Amino acid sequence: MAINAQEISALIKKQIENFQPNFDVTETGVVTYVGDGIARARGLDNAMSGELLEFGNGTFGMAQNLESNDVGIIILGDFDSIREGDTVKRTGKIMEVPVGEALIGRVVNPLGQPVDGLGEIATEDTRPVETPAPGVMQRQSVSEPLQTGIKAIDALVPIGRGQRELIIGDRQTGKTSIAIDTIINQKGQDMICIYVAIGQKESTVRSQVETLRKYGALDYTIVVTASASQPSPLLYIAPYAGVAMAEEFMYKGKHALIVYDDLSKQAVAYRELSLLLRRPPGREAYPGDVFYLHSRLLERSAKLSDELGGGSVTALPFIETQAGDISAYIATNVISITDGQIFLQENLFNSGIRPAIDAGSSVSRVGGSAQIKAMKKVAGTLRLDLASYRELEAFTQFGSDLDSATQAKLNRGRRTVEVLKQGLHKPLAVEKQVLILYALTHGFLDSVPVNDILTFQDDMFDYFDSHYHDIFETIRTTKDLPEESVLDKAIQSFKDQSQFS
Ligand SMILES: Nc1ncnc2c1ncn2[C@@H]1O[C@H](COP(=O)(O)OP(=O)(O)O)[C@@H](O)[C@H]1O
Ligand SMILES: [Mg+2]
Repeated sequence: MAINAQEISALIKKQIENFQPNFDVTETGVVTYVGDGIARARGLDNAMSGELLEFGNGTFGMAQNLESNDVGIIILGDFDSIREGDTVKRTGKIMEVPVGEALIGRVVNPLGQPVDGLGEIATEDTRPVETPAPGVMQRQSVSEPLQTGIKAIDALVPIGRGQRELIIGDRQTGKTSIAIDTIINQKGQDMICIYVAIGQKESTVRSQVETLRKYGALDYTIVVTASASQPSPLLYIAPYAGVAMAEEFMYKGKHALIVYDDLSKQAVAYRELSLLLRRPPGREAYPGDVFYLHSRLLERSAKLSDELGGGSVTALPFIETQAGDISAYIATNVISITDGQIFLQENLFNSGIRPAIDAGSSVSRVGGSAQIKAMKKVAGTLRLDLASYRELEAFTQFGSDLDSATQAKLNRGRRTVEVLKQGLHKPLAVEKQVLILYALTHGFLDSVPVNDILTFQDDMFDYFDSHYHDIFETIRTTKDLPEESVLDKAIQSFKDQSQFS
């Protein structure tokens, strides 16, 4: 067979013409150490901090420590099959996650890959995991309520859209339950929810997803999970991935709620990988920049100005305390970054006061302006009443003959505590909360036995649903109370026909 020299040289010429040198980006290094989610590599002299790197086996990593002769890398995925001597290459990009509507209803890992077995996520849009927070001029102050549906929160420590409210307490005090119920209550509220589960058991996350599905809440929720069995880099990156997904909605003028459950475990993961990267340990062995770990995350929640569409990201970060110690390092850091905290007490939880919110040490620093007028009217003095009740209660344990004013205060206080109890997965619409709190503060419950208060409440809601639906409607639409005489008459008419007359 004759070889056509001309043909061959034409082919070679074409190859040369089409050859595109891309040395600039694909600088390649060699892995010199690998272990526990961490690698070191030589030869990546131009790598940028936070740049996405790709290992020979297709696993991604993120450049962390840029040192004079090597680069410390956190490995985002399977590190078992990476060996010393493997190649690692620059991508020239910083890490991004898929974002957009297609993620709603899905369970994904911190890289945005589905873990729910429901197939590919059809979205082209991505956002960088780390972005600067909106500046002062891009924001406006918080003014719209985010209804959690939980009486004790909406009345005492109201949360506004764009706010950051810390939920803090020991394990098994009902923290996660508050998150799930708040998400369930967002149905029909024009809110997209992102639940970031960090360092939890896979089985726990699974049952939370099932609960959300059962209440129809998965239709507007994205679950991002980095379970306890995942390598620490994934736990570290999870909240940033979640907030990137939330920002996508905020910058489109929509409202998003993001729950970080919980940041204590994220800080521990960060401590682990920092120590492996040989960063100097500081207090409680956390690295020096652990404050920045949470401040740069929480600053990304905001209520945007009207020019930017008025969207919002509301954040509910969680911190798990040991023996109720809110003065630990990470706890105090996050308390100082957020706009308030909801403190859950183990002894309240165990004595049956659930949700176990400690009204004395829980605050919301911007929430007051995020309550509807009707709620403000009925809940105005509730917090002080509760505080003075607790004081009186402790004081009067020793005495028996009390004057009638003290007796009345104690009576009211006991009923207030009872009214603020609420079962699991039973969020209440704001008009119902207003009604029961009105009945409480206007003395309608004073004659009802304490143990019957919640029955009274549920019966009253049913009665109003069928006889005074217009009153609920008025509160919902005007956001204000109807005429007091109308309300008093309606509650009295319920009472007269009930077993509590
Ligand atoms: N309001 C409530 N009423 C009754 N049980 C509750 C309530 N809140 C939480 N629980 C129960 O308490 C347990 C611990 O709640 P969880 O939310 O998982 O706590 P944490 O996240 O603080 O560990 C769960 O079994 C949950 O069902
Ligand atoms: Mg929990």
